[in-house]
Amino acid sequence: MQDYPAPHSPSLTRARFDAEVTSLRDAADAYYATDILAMSDAEYDAGVDWTRAVLTVHPDWASDGTAALLDKVAAGTHASGDVTHPARMLSMGKATDLADVDALVAKVGTGVLVEPKMDGLALRVEYTDGRLTLAATRGDGSTGENVTEQVTRGFGVSGLPVCLGVPWTGEVRGEIIMTLDQFERAQVLRAERGGKPFVNPRNAVAGALRKAGADHWMPMTFACYDLTSGGRDSEDDSQTHIGRMDWAARLGFATAAGLASKAGVHAGLLTATSDERVAVFTQAADVRAAIEQIEQRRPSLGFEIDGAVIKANRDDARARLGDGSRTPNWAVAYKYAAQEATSVIEDIEVGVGRTGRISLRARIAPTFVGGTTVTYASLHNPAWLAEEGIGVGSKVVVKRAGDVIPRVTAPLDAAANEGIPAWTPPAACPNCGGEWDKTSLLWRCHSPECSVAGRLAYWAARDCLDVEGIGDQVAEALAEAGVKDVADLYDLTLAQWSALVLGTTTTGAPRTLGEATAVKIMASLDASKTQPFNRVITGLGIRLTGRSVGRWLAREFPTMTALRAATVDQIAAIEKMGPVKAQAVVDGLAAMSDVINRLAAHGLNMGAAPATGAAVLPLTGMTFVISGSIPGYTRTTAQEAVEAAGGKASSSVSKATTALITDEAGTSKAQKAATLGVPIIDPADFEALLRGDVLPAAT
Ligand code: IVH
Repeated sequence: MQDYPAPHSPSLTRARFDAEVTSLRDAADAYYATDILAMSDAEYDAGVDWTRAVLTVHPDWASDGTAALLDKVAAGTHASGDVTHPARMLSMGKATDLADVDALVAKVGTGVLVEPKMDGLALRVEYTDGRLTLAATRGDGSTGENVTEQVTRGFGVSGLPVCLGVPWTGEVRGEIIMTLDQFERAQVLRAERGGKPFVNPRNAVAGALRKAGADHWMPMTFACYDLTSGGRDSEDDSQTHIGRMDWAARLGFATAAGLASKAGVHAGLLTATSDERVAVFTQAADVRAAIEQIEQRRPSLGFEIDGAVIKANRDDARARLGDGSRTPNWAVAYKYAAQEATSVIEDIEVGVGRTGRISLRARIAPTFVGGTTVTYASLHNPAWLAEEGIGVGSKVVVKRAGDVIPRVTAPLDAAANEGIPAWTPPAACPNCGGEWDKTSLLWRCHSPECSVAGRLAYWAARDCLDVEGIGDQVAEALAEAGVKDVADLYDLTLAQWSALVLGTTTTGAPRTLGEATAVKIMASLDASKTQPFNRVITGLGIRLTGRSVGRWLAREFPTMTALRAATVDQIAAIEKMGPVKAQAVVDGLAAMSDVINRLAAHGLNMGAAPATGAAVLPLTGMTFVISGSIPGYTRTTAQEAVEAAGGKASSSVSKATTALITDEAGTSKAQKAATLGVPIIDPADFEALLRGDVLPAAT
């Protein structure tokens, strides 16, 4: 927090005062016009309060700047837009304490409502014959910016229909916000577009509204708090706020009270009977209780609020009290404590999320924020840390919004952080040592053991269960949609597959998988049930294992029951396995026990014990090396075929090799075979070999 000299301090000069006023107005400008957060809300409010206090000591220091700071929307800095508001878009008077609220309740007399004060941007929207015809921001209160395109493109804005069910003509006012869910999605969209993370949902809304063009769509929500009917077609003649909001809800708008009640704020706001859903309070004590109740529910609302709004319900009370130059006299805003605090980063931990994306977490010096002491806060991404120069030892702003884990939103100030060395991100994934995919700001690790998406894509890969259509992108969408493991794939219905959201097109339309692809994937999943047992083992994606280990294990332990019963020593005894890999296999199988059981229930191949007394397989006791290609086979299927016929598939030629299968002369393998006297079999004879019809003869 800025250290302001006391208003009467002799060290406070006029020049210093003017400089502070200028930086406060710059911060207000940034707040309204850009997505740059120059100072936190609490710092800004403290600065404005300080300015007011200084003017009581030095009234002659008043200037156009202080007048604008104290009296004008956006501190008078906002360039006026091109839309003139028919009635000014007002701001709201602040209740400095609950006594101010009591005073309003008494002044109104006929009852007030208590609503959450949504932390977004004010929006005015005109409808003509049921169609959205104009949307404008508040701007300086008299004129604002035309943002019609921004609120109608793509999926539009939730709670703000482009087309109403009835040909209503009129105007709604309300707050445009991002819910916390929408904010999380917006951050991902932003990173994928290469942008710097948004500081908070309100700044994200400001950023989204400033940008024109279809590919800048961001998820947002509108919450109506005022409505004026222009025609004769209003069904509301109640002359009350409640009546207007009911009509707004029936027209299809989301309302501030409605969003709160969805999030469970009922008791203070809503009474039991459905025709009188919003409580009107005439007693100061009830109003105080409702304000407190909203604050208690603040963490679970699902959107950011910065206070409660207390407003007169009846229009006659509003008319009697009137409006001031900047604020109405019939409403006040009671601000809650900021959910922001400052702390110092003690360590930065790197993890991988369920979609394989890098996740950064700062361990911070314990700090009290939003009602609890926090010791961890998430960080955006490596590029952002580098750009902001944040590292271990940096002083930072930590913000807690709702149930979301607190987040480091900004470095505190450049001077405090000078000399802190920049943090160096790990060169490889800390879980598996794999290479990062850095094509997006949110680096990704594709290893199967690191993420749900990685596991799904690996299971479906050609050398594993060979399921068509589940590449990285679909795997990520599945992980995003809540699929937890590979067994879940076999539970999804055609409707679920078809509706899987892959992303948005450049025009903002949803891109779903669609039924045609869904049918193909489901058929391929069905076919995967006949894949050999070794592929099921490989597909589990156990650490340190790959397709060879899958084959070795299946050969030694032909059923899942046998494999699960195997000890570390037994597995370690397999050629080339050793104790480290063996331990990983035992641990991996134990960890995936539930998934394996569910896969078995779905009919995946869990192996078969060799029939007793069966004829000896044709290639028993023989070892083959395959080099180059075999028509009709991949490397994996060829090796599997050799093993199914009782043989062993190896990758290097040695004295123990029965034969080399290749049609390439002169390769190092062919040369080695020649030196050792290992016979060579033509790939054209492969099928005959499997039947036992070709016997390798020494050359
Ligand atoms: S009623 C002033 N109700 O807060 C006109 N305003 O700081 C009456 N706000 O301009 C507004 N939530 O943009 C009202 N439930 C709510 C609100 C709300 C947020 C905004 C609104 C207003 C600003 C004042």
